[in-house]
Amino acid sequence: MKRTTYAGLVNEQYTGQTVTLKGWVQKRRDLGQLIFIDLRDREGIVQLVFSSEFSADALKIADQLRNEYVLEVTGIVKHRKEKDVNPKMKTGQIEVEVQEAKILNSAKTPPFDIEDGVSASDELKMKYRYLDLRRPEMLKGLKIRNRITQAVHSYLDEQGFLDIETPNLTKSTPEGARDYLVPSRVYPGHFYALPQSPQLFKQLLMGAGIDRYYQLARCFRDEDLRGDRQPEFTQIDLETSFLTAEEIQDITEGLIARVMKDTLDIDVKWPFDRISWQDSMNRFGTDQPDVRFGMELKDISSIVADSEFKVFSGAVANGGVVKAIAVPEGASNLSRKDIDKLGKYVERFGAKGLAWLKITDEGFSGPVAKFFNEDTEKQIMDQTGAKVGDLLLFAADRAKVVGDTLGYLRVELAKRFDLIDEDQFAFLWVVDWPLFDYDEGDERWVAAHHPFTMPNEEDLHYLNEGEDPHQAHAQSYDIILNGLELGGGSIRINTREVQEKMLKALGFSLESANEQFGYLLTALDYGFPPHGGLAIGLDRFARLLAKRDNIRDVIAFPKNSKASEPMTEAPTMVSDEQLAELSLDVDIRKPEDQQ
Ligand code: AMO
Ligand code: AMP
Repeated sequence: MKRTTYAGLVNEQYTGQTVTLKGWVQKRRDLGQLIFIDLRDREGIVQLVFSSEFSADALKIADQLRNEYVLEVTGIVKHRKEKDVNPKMKTGQIEVEVQEAKILNSAKTPPFDIEDGVSASDELKMKYRYLDLRRPEMLKGLKIRNRITQAVHSYLDEQGFLDIETPNLTKSTPEGARDYLVPSRVYPGHFYALPQSPQLFKQLLMGAGIDRYYQLARCFRDEDLRGDRQPEFTQIDLETSFLTAEEIQDITEGLIARVMKDTLDIDVKWPFDRISWQDSMNRFGTDQPDVRFGMELKDISSIVADSEFKVFSGAVANGGVVKAIAVPEGASNLSRKDIDKLGKYVERFGAKGLAWLKITDEGFSGPVAKFFNEDTEKQIMDQTGAKVGDLLLFAADRAKVVGDTLGYLRVELAKRFDLIDEDQFAFLWVVDWPLFDYDEGDERWVAAHHPFTMPNEEDLHYLNEGEDPHQAHAQSYDIILNGLELGGGSIRINTREVQEKMLKALGFSLESANEQFGYLLTALDYGFPPHGGLAIGLDRFARLLAKRDNIRDVIAFPKNSKASEPMTEAPTMVSDEQLAELSLDVDIRKPEDQQ
């Protein structure tokens, strides 16, 4: 029989009609001569009623049904009796009196209940991912993702962008992570790299005169995984020629507005606010500020430069800063033990302590209050905007440690005290980035965005011999949503001269620059247009719109936090024959056991 509609879409309009539905048994309630089945498909659940009154054969079939059996039924849609109406259910006004039923397949008892909020472990749910995806909240994530991609295609098509694919078997394009490598059979000892992004290909498409390119591009990065990172993810990737950074941002805002309308029916206000990178670091301690709440970082260095409290004056004397956040009503909401715990936590950012003061009617109170006279108190109150009842938390150190510490506390305490409006979508551009960033782990300068980003015009001279390139700022921009980096982009370098200087500043010799990027440098010799673009993380966008905690929840078949896939068990070892064919010899001893 042909299906009439989805089970989850049967509503009062179908009352009196005969419908054929196909789906899975969600639940069975057996009252002997009357059996109720909740039938589930991707659109929802509808209640089926089996009774000898409607069909004795169908009732016999209902008797055999167990959870997750696949079922086809034909029956009449009836309005439920007033007392049986379930207002919580989309189909709660009606039920289907079954006249014919057919079991399309049986099912073993699933390893966990197929319902939202199920408490099974992530590992188990990933091993049976196809069962987990039957749950409504998981389906919702995939549906939102689909709405986003449909909106992206239609908007960018209207804007004249061409959807063009770029290769996945390619040469390394650096975006700051490790590459996934694919061995070549034909060229022993040679490897393709999976793209970390289509960056260089999209630039070359501009060199080809494509003018406006986009792609929903698969990217691969071998990096430490977190809730907002997967080894394999998707970018809404675009590139344009002859546009300014502001024009590219305008197009992006239009794109985001379309997505918000088509997915959640939300009208976002644009243009979005812009904040410079430096302001963002000063005010929020991070380049991904969440602007849905206040509690901004306030610099009190000049007020306490001569303080008797040596922790503060010492930090300033050493070239550091002292900053504070005022936690609303924190004086009563945070106990000393809570503050000690926070102080312990922020040690990971390098903080050596967490000074605090409670604001009472009589002024400052707390162990370090004695160091502050009335005048200083007033200045600190003015500068921080603190009110009676608030708690001031201070960090005194290098600017980075202070920013990391208070930036973290600001978000942590806002979450703890419910200061965040979860229904708000706060988009923001962070602009005017430094061109370089110091990697404290590797102890070297790296490109803050990537090595192809154009410095600000007035900063180009910093790349000249004898000048300090690290002073330069870049024509790059990040788009932030609710305190998370959603995407980023830049105007690109379009001349060999500047690109070579940039690579040199990053420590490349002319030889190694040519070896890695010779094809780009050559292309720049042949009339390369000014160009720029950006990429938005599709998985992150979908996750935020679906209000989920992890991007895994909006990816059909993601990897776990150890970059493996419990269902297929990838990555797996391969046969000796396969290795031999690829001329590979694998040494799987631990590094410390190797000679
Ligand atoms: P970037 O490296 O900033 O820029 O990446 C752009 C966006 O991609 C998303 N993203 C990720 N999402 C999930 N898992 C990951 N491991 C991951 N890494 C990045 C983020 C990020 O903002 N080629 C440049 C863009 C450009 O300049 O046009 C690029 O890749 O949302
Ligand atoms: P101490 O003088 O080291 O006992 O510290 C007095 C108070 O200042 C304690 O509450 C410490 O947690 C705090 N403190 C110490 N070092 C710092 C720092 N670098 N920044 C902020 N507070 C600090």
